[in-house]
Amino acid sequence: MSYQNILTAKEDGIFQITLNRPDKLNALNYQTIQEVGMALREANNDSEVKAVLITGSGEKAFAAGADISEFAAYSREEAEKLSRDGNHVFTSIERSPKPVLAAVNGFALGGGCELAMACHLRVASENARFGQPEVNLGLTPGYAGTQRLVQLIGKGKALEYLMTADMISAAEAHRLGLVNYVVPQAELIGKSKEILQKIATKAPLAIAAVIRCVNAHFAYDEDGFEAEVEEFSDCFDSEDFKEGTAAFLEKRKAEFRGR
Ligand code: COA
Repeated sequence: MSYQNILTAKEDGIFQITLNRPDKLNALNYQTIQEVGMALREANNDSEVKAVLITGSGEKAFAAGADISEFAAYSREEAEKLSRDGNHVFTSIERSPKPVLAAVNGFALGGGCELAMACHLRVASENARFGQPEVNLGLTPGYAGTQRLVQLIGKGKALEYLMTADMISAAEAHRLGLVNYVVPQAELIGKSKEILQKIATKAPLAIAAVIRCVNAHFAYDEDGFEAEVEEFSDCFDSEDFKEGTAAFLEKRKAEFRGR
């Protein structure tokens, strides 16, 4: 598919989505977020794709937030649609059965931070800066920043950053558990792909099951313990489980097929 505001590429089973509005620090306007959603669907429907990597173009920003110029004159109703539709896309990332990693190459502010937090894993370059500066604009976050920041760093620090609008350095983000790794910018994509390639050697159905179970921990309408019992049992019906256990007993490398 062709897109206006993002670039997509597929290599060695990894589908890369690059936010591509560098002159606007990859600010996330409505169209860009919808395109990310469409690209994710494309990746999830492609059996050659094992994992998804999201990054920003340029060396300055992953995404500097929702596009302020787009919503500055919005009515309440328009704001509600913007927030609901964006949340829909970000939740689809969180629920993606294939792992999604954010390679954060610079500013990840507002919607940029929220997009990174919707991904399953985050790797940051040393110059990355995170934050939810919406209160500077007279706003709350609108793409679940108040929810996922709490999930990732805990209530106390989340409230501090949400209320002060302070930026979080890459080192502090790592200390807080907001990012999995911090690496020099030149190594960002390499490290991100290395992690995804490792996951791609595991059983795809089991990976999807792990994602579902972990998400269930945070869902109000699901019992995570019950979800795990279900997913564990379902694995026993899969060919991958038979292959994985047989390979272990035969002392060879398993060849998983996602069935
Ligand atoms: N929405 C729309 N445009 C944005 C943007 C956003 N969130 N963030 C940056 N831009 C645009 C700037 O308006 C500027 O465009 P211009 O060259 O046409 O004037 C361009 O991107 C470069 O940004 P600039 O502010 O000149 O870069 P900087 O290095 O001085 O500052 C930031 C970088 C990230 C600190 C600053 O751009 C910023 O504070 N952005 C807004 C962050 C924010 O509040 N995000 C939450 C939105 S809900």
